[in-house]
Amino acid sequence: MTPDPQSSDRGALEIAERHERAASELIRETELQLYIDGVWVDSIGDARFDVRDPTTGIRLAMAQAGNAADIERAVTAAWRGYETWKTKSPAERQTILTEISDRVEARAEEFARLDSLDNGKPITEARGDIELVVDHFRYFAGAARTLEGKTVPVGRDQHVETIREPYGVVGQIIPWNFPLLMATWKLAPALAAGNAVVLKPAEETPLSLMEFVHEVGDLLPAGALNVVTGYGPEAGASLVEHPRVSKIAFTGSTEVGRGVMKGAANNLTDISLELGGKSPLIVFPDADVNRAVDVAIDAMFYNAGECCCAGTRLFVHDMLREQFVEEFAAAAEALVVGDPLLEKTDIGPKISATQVERTEQYIKLATEVGGQVVTGGGRPTDDRLGRGNFVLPTVIERAPHEARAAQEEIFGPVELVFGWNSYDRLIEQVNDVKFGLAAGIVTDDLTTARRAARDIEVGNVWVNQYNEFPAGQPFGGYKQSGIGRETARETIEAYTRTKTINFRVG
Ligand code: NAI
Ligand code: MG
Repeated sequence: MTPDPQSSDRGALEIAERHERAASELIRETELQLYIDGVWVDSIGDARFDVRDPTTGIRLAMAQAGNAADIERAVTAAWRGYETWKTKSPAERQTILTEISDRVEARAEEFARLDSLDNGKPITEARGDIELVVDHFRYFAGAARTLEGKTVPVGRDQHVETIREPYGVVGQIIPWNFPLLMATWKLAPALAAGNAVVLKPAEETPLSLMEFVHEVGDLLPAGALNVVTGYGPEAGASLVEHPRVSKIAFTGSTEVGRGVMKGAANNLTDISLELGGKSPLIVFPDADVNRAVDVAIDAMFYNAGECCCAGTRLFVHDMLREQFVEEFAAAAEALVVGDPLLEKTDIGPKISATQVERTEQYIKLATEVGGQVVTGGGRPTDDRLGRGNFVLPTVIERAPHEARAAQEEIFGPVELVFGWNSYDRLIEQVNDVKFGLAAGIVTDDLTTARRAARDIEVGNVWVNQYNEFPAGQPFGGYKQSGIGRETARETIEAYTRTKTINFRVG
């Protein structure tokens, strides 16, 4: 049915008005500044960029394009901040991080709406992000108390002990898909370990982080937390290459991650990288089809596919395949694509027009090599959504596994479905990508699940569910999906270094 033009105009207007109201309620300042040394300051340069609402295209704020000189100031401030922050006892750091989580929790709904507005994610999902923000700050508040050294027996006349020390100043660069949550995954463990931080948010989504700094900045010593907005190749690269930054933590594309590793090599700066994925979801023949469909919908269409761990290659056993694809496509069609601020919405817009084009390009690449679009395939025809970066949930069958669309990260709501009947051949194919971030398995057979979990070359496996991120559970990739683990005990350790002290005895 084609919507009549007048009512679709009204529909678009209604969305635009809702977003303008939300923006005026939620955005404290539309001219963002940099946060350096505990105060809001202007960039040394005058370059600015727009922060846009991906649902309506309207400008939400102007941000400053921080440059190398701003990074220099921030790094200097961070070393000063570190001098104070490192004197805090673990108990004091725990108290402060707990207070941070409490303050975010008290305003959880506002932070969720801000991320929904800025990123386009459905409000119901944004609430989940903020719950995790709170959970992760609490977890790392506790973890601040767990850093311990050891004594090493080496013989009668020496006493060897180790202590764990923070790096000093850590540089952190994050993407736009989970704005405040990605900031939290990096800030909470770094601060808990006693480091000072210079963080560069993604160009697309600085708003929730800026509000976070307004909310909690006074809890930290000046300079312990610095935020510099700006473009990746300028602000990001100067942070990576800065000789007085002792560790770099990056989340984003594998391509940029490779550049970060090269940049860090100049000063042999330690790094952690959380990069892209092309994660498999495997449905075994004993699986309940309804449950498998639910897991697959979550794995693929959560956050409109803008997830590094999205389950984008779906391997369904041939015995179930026909029934599964039918039900999966029906469930994908039933997802509500629309205004992310509405409770009923399942799929919001993608972050940018560039990301829409990229997704469409991959759909085209898949169909050119024999892929058949079962549902979706492009932008919605609903004119009310015409101003936003929307793509329909898309399911493609029969593309060869060697196809670029099956090998490369699309980062959009596009699922490629493959059949399988031999376990060995399945595992070969599952592992035949350069990535190794996550995987999902649907089966009621524990032995099958364990065996497959061990055979798949990835850092994270979910069984009969997907996208669960409780704090404490390590997250990170094998192969070209990254280096290091976040969200866990080993993360706080990774923000410290071991110092060995050897005493002469007698
Ligand atoms: P990106 O990797 O360019 O951006 C991520 C962050 O890196 C941003 O803060 C950006 O400013 C920064 N950055 C960019 N160039 C840099 C450089 N030379 N030095 C230091 N920092 C730099 O990702 P982008 O362009 O937003 O998206 C492109 C593709 O990357 C997506 O289509 C998706 O496939 C992938 N991606 C993966 C993410 C993940 O969670 N693994 C997150 C975002 C994007
Ligand atoms: Mg980029």
